[in-house]
Amino acid sequence: EKGGYDHFMLKEMDEQPQAVRDTLLGHLVDGQIVLDEQRLDQQELRDIDKVFIVACGTAYHSGLIGKQVIEHWTRVPVEVEMASEFRYRDPVLDRQTLVVPISQSGETADTLEAVRHAVEQRAKVLAICNTNGAQIPRESDAVLYTHAGPEIGVAATKTFLAQVAAVELVGLALAQARGTKYGDEVVREYDALCSMPDAIAATLQAMQPVRDLAREIAHEKAVLFLGRHMGYPVALEGALKLKELAYMHAEGFPAGELKHGPIALIEDDLPVVVVMPSPTGRPTLHQKMLSNVAEITARGARTIVIGEPDDAGARELAAHFVEVPPVPTLLSPFVQTVPLQVLAAEIAAARGYDIDKPRNLAKSVTVE
Ligand code: F6R
Repeated sequence: EKGGYDHFMLKEMDEQPQAVRDTLLGHLVDGQIVLDEQRLDQQELRDIDKVFIVACGTAYHSGLIGKQVIEHWTRVPVEVEMASEFRYRDPVLDRQTLVVPISQSGETADTLEAVRHAVEQRAKVLAICNTNGAQIPRESDAVLYTHAGPEIGVAATKTFLAQVAAVELVGLALAQARGTKYGDEVVREYDALCSMPDAIAATLQAMQPVRDLAREIAHEKAVLFLGRHMGYPVALEGALKLKELAYMHAEGFPAGELKHGPIALIEDDLPVVVVMPSPTGRPTLHQKMLSNVAEITARGARTIVIGEPDDAGARELAAHFVEVPPVPTLLSPFVQTVPLQVLAAEIAAARGYDIDKPRNLAKSVTVE
């Protein structure tokens, strides 16, 4: 069952290329993006003028990634909200609002209640879910299933990357319905998504330096994570994995916020993980991030930079440089998340914790 691995989580991280491949499979038919269950017609999708993504925990982080791609491809405004907050603040919803719950289990109480609220307000609901026939997809107008297979480890890994793939497909489906992307453009984006499994596999194969580094910093009290744009949700996910698995204080920040407060936390030897934008894909953002790396390095931080092989600037400043393959910016979370999962798992293992069953956590949270 563990297939030669010591822990399910390690096996599930290695299954990520397959989880993404299976989630994408069969969703482009004659140049059209198709969902799994669609009780919404093309006209209803065309009329959508606002999107809310609602989710919890790791699924919420995939939603933050979804916001970036959906807005970029469709020009429809997207809000991402933790389901537990959304439900209780009377959000502005109507027939032209699309609510996208994202849930591995499909049974998370907070997310389910958010769906029910959306349905009451007559919004359209398109669920992303990993569990066939679960309550959330049953109560939704349309469904796109992630095909990550069962996830036994309590911490979400392969289901996260599958959710990222699914939310990118939702972006393409909406863009196609609204005519902001068509024909070849959609096929090209879909093909780029289909190259992610190989990129993830290549990343997984190059993780030994991260394992070594994890042992070095396993005794630290806290780790900070910085990102911008696509890298910000990745930073949040890296921090969540470390909290859950290693019980370490870990926080993710948008790097631009540093000077507005968090930089006060920087002290000698504090490990800071920096999720670097591509120097060629996003040169302006890259430049800004490089200044952030210089600022924290000057204050003594031990910077662990996740970047592309040709990022000479960051490599020079970093205490540790972790290479990930260069991929299009909107797809960067597929590769940049992997070293952060490995880091958290290895730190937890070095501290002697059971990474499959972190304390105080349940795989699905069916109470609000
Ligand atoms: C993190 C984790 C949780 C879940 C969250 C939502 O590793 O597993 O944060 O992501 O409880 O669960 P689902 O996706 O089942 O709604």
